[in-house]
Amino acid sequence: MLAILALAGVAVPGPRTAHLGATTTLAPPRSRIAAAVRRNGSSLPAGGAVWPTAIYWAMLQVGTPPRSFPAAIDSGSGDLDIAALGCDGCVTAPPNNQYDHAASSTSKPAFPFVFRNTYETCDLKHPTKPCSIGGKLYTDVVSMGGLGPVPVKLGAIESQDTNFDQFAQIDGVVGFTSGGSEDVFSQLVAAKACDNIWSICMHRGSKSNGTLTLGGVDSRLSDGPMVYVPDVGRGFRAVQVASFTLVKNTSSAAVAAGTAVLPVTLPVQRSAILDTGTNVLLLPPELLSRLGEAMCADASLAHCRTLWGDPLSSSSCVALSEDEVDAYPSLRMQLDGTALEMSGRDYLLRGSPLASHGGEYCLGIRSGGELFIIGDTTMRNYLLAFDLGGRRVGWAPVNRKRGGCGSVDEGEGHDRLAERCTAH
Ligand SMILES: *[C@@H]1O[C@H](CO)[C@@H](O)[C@H](O)[C@H]1NC(C)=O
Ligand SMILES: *[C@@H]1O[C@H](CO)[C@@H](O)[C@H](O)[C@H]1NC(C)=O
Ligand SMILES: *[C@@H]1O[C@H](CO)[C@@H](O)[C@H](O)[C@H]1NC(C)=O
Repeated sequence: MLAILALAGVAVPGPRTAHLGATTTLAPPRSRIAAAVRRNGSSLPAGGAVWPTAIYWAMLQVGTPPRSFPAAIDSGSGDLDIAALGCDGCVTAPPNNQYDHAASSTSKPAFPFVFRNTYETCDLKHPTKPCSIGGKLYTDVVSMGGLGPVPVKLGAIESQDTNFDQFAQIDGVVGFTSGGSEDVFSQLVAAKACDNIWSICMHRGSKSNGTLTLGGVDSRLSDGPMVYVPDVGRGFRAVQVASFTLVKNTSSAAVAAGTAVLPVTLPVQRSAILDTGTNVLLLPPELLSRLGEAMCADASLAHCRTLWGDPLSSSSCVALSEDEVDAYPSLRMQLDGTALEMSGRDYLLRGSPLASHGGEYCLGIRSGGELFIIGDTTMRNYLLAFDLGGRRVGWAPVNRKRGGCGSVDEGEGHDRLAERCTAH
């Protein structure tokens, strides 16, 4: 989700004298094992899906004694917010948890004491309609992926809008963009617990629906070389998109009947925000209509104009056979150094709340207001690395094989390294 307003709770990076002491006493062991883990990053399982959660999430530990909380992994916002005990509108079903500041010996109220955050892409039926959370601010210690604990200024949610669909199952968010005392990852980097790079893959493996790595790129999760492109974002992480190309699926049974001359290329020349907290592809209206026109110029594509019709109407969702879906072209987004690919199955989606029944496909390419946002339906094909230190973004084909993305345990890297080190 994209944070669109921060009415209060703006990061104020000031001197952290008291908390630096806490960082030192609670720092991770500076052993060879920890150093080795840090170089490849620390991987942890992520849950989530494009539907119904519309976001991926991982566990982190807050407070003293530490308690575990799930939090949505969000490259489009910058804070840690978790449900508070007694929250109005939060979900309490497992794996959710409720933060009780009085039960944590390291919890302290933090200036300006209250917060209210508003997001876009939180309401699945209306991606550009805002929704908000509010509550109190505390400083407490946080660990993630075996790294930390580090002091973080966190929001304890006391009230939550009813249209916050992305919080309907996992009531918490960990943002990676603000770079201040509210950003868990940036605090881990500041405490030298890990390098300034994190990576994520979204694929349902034998153990989880994805894997998050803090402090590096875990090569087990990719199936090919990683290509880096410049991060052109200011505030957000973003990539420059030169063009879109629609490419025919030459192995599809329906292709012989195709009437369009593909490939067809549309100039784009815009930057696209990379938001792990947006599930689909969001385009500015002008680009959305050009892409729809280009795709539906192929009159053989089943129900193309219906799918591209009114995006907020359930009448835009249709039943399609497997062959009809496969006949849809792939969308190739040309970046500065590599191209991102989405097949018809990546943008024709089942399970949308807009569908009138589960078997229907809806178009997963929607209007983003004036925003161009690349979300999870594109990212799922890649191991995506946010090299914040190097101001670049890496893309490698995701490893869908056994032992790859979604098949890695938290601490697996630690254990294997520990075995290797103690064997000497
Ligand atoms: C990093 O991962 C690679 C590939 O899995 C492995 O060969 C290498 O030993 C790892 N490096 C460290 C320092 O653990
Ligand atoms: C994993 O994905 C499936 C389907 O995509 C979903 O039903 C399930 O709830 C997800 N699991 C978790 C732990 O999020
Ligand atoms: C192309 O069509 C084939 C056969 O219908 C299908 O198996 C494959 O997944 C499709 N590929 C893409 C990229 O859509």
